[in-house]
Amino acid sequence: MSKLTPFFNPVAWYKAWRFHKKNAAFDKSTYDLELHLYSKILQNNMLHWGYFENTRIDPGDISLNQFQTAQQRYAENLLEQIVNKKAPVLDVGCGMGGLAEMLMDHAIPVEVLTPNKNQIGFISARHPELCSYRCKFEDFEAAKQYGTIINSESLQYIKLEDAFNKADHIVLPKARWIITDYFRTEDRPDNKGSHLLSDFKQKIDEHDWTIVLEKDITAHVLPTIAYVNLYIERFLLPLKHYAYEKLRYKQAWLFYLSERIRNSIDAKINKERRSVDPVLFVSQKRYMFFVLEKK
Ligand SMILES: C[S@@+](CC[C@H](N)C(=O)[O-])C[C@H]1O[C@@H](n2cnc3c(N)ncnc32)[C@H](O)[C@@H]1O
Repeated sequence: MSKLTPFFNPVAWYKAWRFHKKNAAFDKSTYDLELHLYSKILQNNMLHWGYFENTRIDPGDISLNQFQTAQQRYAENLLEQIVNKKAPVLDVGCGMGGLAEMLMDHAIPVEVLTPNKNQIGFISARHPELCSYRCKFEDFEAAKQYGTIINSESLQYIKLEDAFNKADHIVLPKARWIITDYFRTEDRPDNKGSHLLSDFKQKIDEHDWTIVLEKDITAHVLPTIAYVNLYIERFLLPLKHYAYEKLRYKQAWLFYLSERIRNSIDAKINKERRSVDPVLFVSQKRYMFFVLEKK
């Protein structure tokens, strides 16, 4: 009976309602749960999908260390594209700061920007000397001009027109804009959440940038997608089944009452599964590596 007490207590209901209201009002770009989760799993402070040299690797053979090596390789690819190593680099959507750390190791002047307060707190604690901005790129008031801008898997969160307008005004002549991200190849209602590749290319023309490098790296990113997919199938789903069944045997009444919550958890998991379905990904998206230069 004691477990049921809060359900029959009006004060507990009022407190629960207040708690719900407070927690429902969080801004996804300033606190991203998924990124926080990944940052606990990975230890190199990188939050992108990495670049596997071996595109044929079996996902079951991938270790956490191999995944981190792939992330390191991805970051090195970006670093190789910085030609002006004296002018400041702006790492837009810097995540946990892993790329910025790599740039600092190469004595390249770098500044970081992210709207996520946890990420800024994490980076500032590790590198108090690193100049960091906590804001959205669209709202950034730059006090200087940059020789390179990097968007490593962060352009998808920013409206294209806003991103180009901002980039146009904060770069030095001949600056480079290095962009790695996935893009949609078709405009379909069931396929949202990243920019259309054709829209992106149109903006490049409209805003006087030229393409220095355009590489489809989907095959090099797919092992990560297959790897995450495998973990969902082999760990997350069996664990979920175990937890639900345990609840059913131990607290059948709660299992019965929580049906709607369980359904919404299932819907969320199914949505995440679709985003890491390798076959679906290849049929609807391309993971691209672009280097642009300001005309
Ligand atoms: C997938 S993570 C990539 C992190 C990092 N660039 C990396 O490669 O490890 C996406 C990043 O974009 C940031 N972001 C989201 N919305 C943004 C915006 N409007 N302006 C700038 N950054 C944004 C997130 O906070 C996060 O740091």
